Amino acid sequence: MSAKIIDGKAFAADVRARVAAHVARLKEENGITPGLAVVLVGEDPASEVYVRSKGKQTVEVGMNSYEHKLDADTSEADLLALIDTLNNDPAVHGILVQLPLPGHLDSDLVINSINPAKDVDGFHISNVGLLGTGQKSMVPCTPLGCLMMLRDHHGSLSGMNAVVIGRSNIVGKPMAQLLLGDSCTVTIAHSRTKDIADVVRGADIVVAAVGRPEMVPGDWIKPGATVIDVGINRLPPAAEGGKARLVGDCHYDSCAEVAGAITPVPGGVGPMTIACLLANTLTACCRAHGLAEPEGLTA
Ligand code: GUN
Repeated sequence: MSAKIIDGKAFAADVRARVAAHVARLKEENGITPGLAVVLVGEDPASEVYVRSKGKQTVEVGMNSYEHKLDADTSEADLLALIDTLNNDPAVHGILVQLPLPGHLDSDLVINSINPAKDVDGFHISNVGLLGTGQKSMVPCTPLGCLMMLRDHHGSLSGMNAVVIGRSNIVGKPMAQLLLGDSCTVTIAHSRTKDIADVVRGADIVVAAVGRPEMVPGDWIKPGATVIDVGINRLPPAAEGGKARLVGDCHYDSCAEVAGAITPVPGGVGPMTIACLLANTLTACCRAHGLAEPEGLTA
């Protein structure tokens, strides 16, 4: 079998178009423009690239983008004061503090100081608890993007066996909660899991989010299964003078031979993260104003 390729780039473009259409309606009918504030502390080059991309896409869908760049040695008190200002600013519907933060800042404390209703990352402990108990919450962007692609491909996920490889707070755990919410039978596998190959072989859906290049080979995949590869790993060039290669957590060629559907790297899950951040900002804005939430853009 040769797997259907799930095109995350095209899917993300469609999500952004739907967000943009809803934003245009909000402006015209309600005089409201959603606003997203992104806070970056320090000069981590990868974070700067992400933040620039977020700002650009926010403006492209018609929202207001507020960027706050703080020095690497910003004190916790100053950062908390900025978050307090954003929490109380009615023009700001979503707040994202780019991670990782410099070591002297307590990430949990900072994230938990964001108003949960504006926590478009879904990292606040209240949102984690709401998701875990099946209540309306803000949902972390990458798992939300994976869920949208899975629902689009399968329709209903009810009764399917799903294995999530990786137990991070940002992807693995919320992904498992979302799949459970869609009535999958969910297993979380991780570095200590015994007989992981056999565990994965039982899965109709595999979500790999471990950050280990090409860890999942094709012979772990049940024929016809859907493989969602969250990993983005940079490998050094194969030959001198060559280009660095981006690979996922799954060995693409061998998995694609067996799977029914697979997300490529790059161009799979990656583009969905920012698209879902925009969707979450729109959702937060609609909730803040007591308006109907966008359809198909929430969990
Ligand atoms: N750093 C890398 N990915 C993310 C993300 O999704 N949210 C935040 N806040 N920081 C990140």
